[in-house]
Order: sequence, then structure tokens, then C-alpha cells
Amino acid sequence: MNLQNATWIEIEKYLEKSSGIIIPIGSTEQHGPNGLIGTDAICPEVIANGVADKLNALVAPTINYGMAQHHLEFPGTIALRPSTLLTMIKDIVASLAKHGFRHLYFLNGHGGNIAPIHAGFSEFYSEQTLSPNGMSEDSTYTTLSNWWRAPSVIKLTEELYGNAEGLHATPSEVSLSYYARPDAVKQVSLSPEIAPSDCFYDAKDYRKRFPDGRIGSNPGLSSIEHGERIYHAAVDDVCQHFTEFCLTT
Ligand code: NI
Repeated sequence: MNLQNATWIEIEKYLEKSSGIIIPIGSTEQHGPNGLIGTDAICPEVIANGVADKLNALVAPTINYGMAQHHLEFPGTIALRPSTLLTMIKDIVASLAKHGFRHLYFLNGHGGNIAPIHAGFSEFYSEQTLSPNGMSEDSTYTTLSNWWRAPSVIKLTEELYGNAEGLHATPSEVSLSYYARPDAVKQVSLSPEIAPSDCFYDAKDYRKRFPDGRIGSNPGLSSIEHGERIYHAAVDDVCQHFTEFCLTT
């Protein structure tokens, strides 16, 4: 069930039998010459919807923005500062917890979000602990799951791409986004095939070192067919992980 398409009455009913919710979170940032700017949000969203269909679970609206300062030299990127993102996470957790959601599963598509999401969780718990009334009677459990680190996804990605997977604008995420949005597939030739890989400092330094936006990857290997395989691997792993998480008392 999709929260945006539901009524409050349906949500109240859902809460009688389940306290779990999946919140997809991504970023709006450049993904190289053939990757979609929405890649990091599109990927966890399509996986979350697949999991929800299989488990009759509830999916919250996707958080489409993330911490993406280092991509700001590329047009189209929209970045939140870390403090904005962590406040947003804290407020979303607090809102859901107020209604009785106890198992909040953030399904993430962007590495830069990891630190602020955890900081947002900590802000929520700090306020609960420090409030005059102390912790609420029913604990709220939050977790962060990075779809590209699911064991079956890692195995499949290694098999399909080896060292061409790289670190940013990877063929696995581009394939999955193409599977989710077949009308947006791009045909672009990439040179060099595998992008350079290095560390970087700020946004200007990033564009200087990685002029087309990719890091260490060859997304020219991407296809809808690969995306479909990655989708099923991710949905299976996340179904299992979400189910185990919801059994946490
Ligand atoms: Ni990405």
C-alpha cells in the first residue's frame, strides 16, 4: 500500500495489524552522461514498491533530495545541507512514531545520506531521552538499509560488472533505474569506458577529476534486462530484512 494513495482510515486499520513502514530515500544529483538525475531516488522507490506488493506493507512518499554538495558543479543537482536532512529525518520519525509506527525502515539509494540519516535517528532518540517524560512506553525502532549493499545485489553486480561497477553512476544503479523508467533510457557512448577513480575534496575538485561525473564505473554496460535481475535480487533481500526487522519487539 502506498501512503499517498491511502486514507487515514486505511492507515489506522493498517496499524492494527502492522507497525512497519518503508521510507525510500534518495538524492537529486548528476549520474554521469547516461545516468538519470533521479537515479538514487528511483532505485529505492521501485524496490520499496516491489517489497510492499509482496508483503502487503506500507510505503511512505520517497524523500527525493539528499546530501549531494559534491555534485553541485553539474547542472540539475539539488542538494540539502546535512543539518536540513537530519532535521527532516527526525521530524519524519517523530511523526510516524506519534501514530504508532514502531518499525521505521529507511531504504536508501545514496551513500552521502548515510551519516545524516543516522544523525537524524540520534536526534529523535536524544529528544525522547532528554524530554521531562523520558522515553515513551513503546520503543520506536529505526533502521537504515542501503539497497546496493544487499548480499544478493553485491553477488549479482560482481558477476555482471566486476571492476567496471565503480563508485558513482554505477552500471547496477543505472540498470535498475532503466528497468524502473524504460522511457528514459539514454544511448550515449562513454570515453574512457571505465571512468577514473580517486579521492576528491569539494564540488569544483570533483568536476576537475571526474569531468563527466562518473567515478570508476562503466555504466555503458547498463541494460533494462540487467535492471530486472537486480530488481528481483534486491526485492528478495529487502523482503527478508524488513520482515526480520519488523519482528523486533
Ligand atoms: Ni547513485
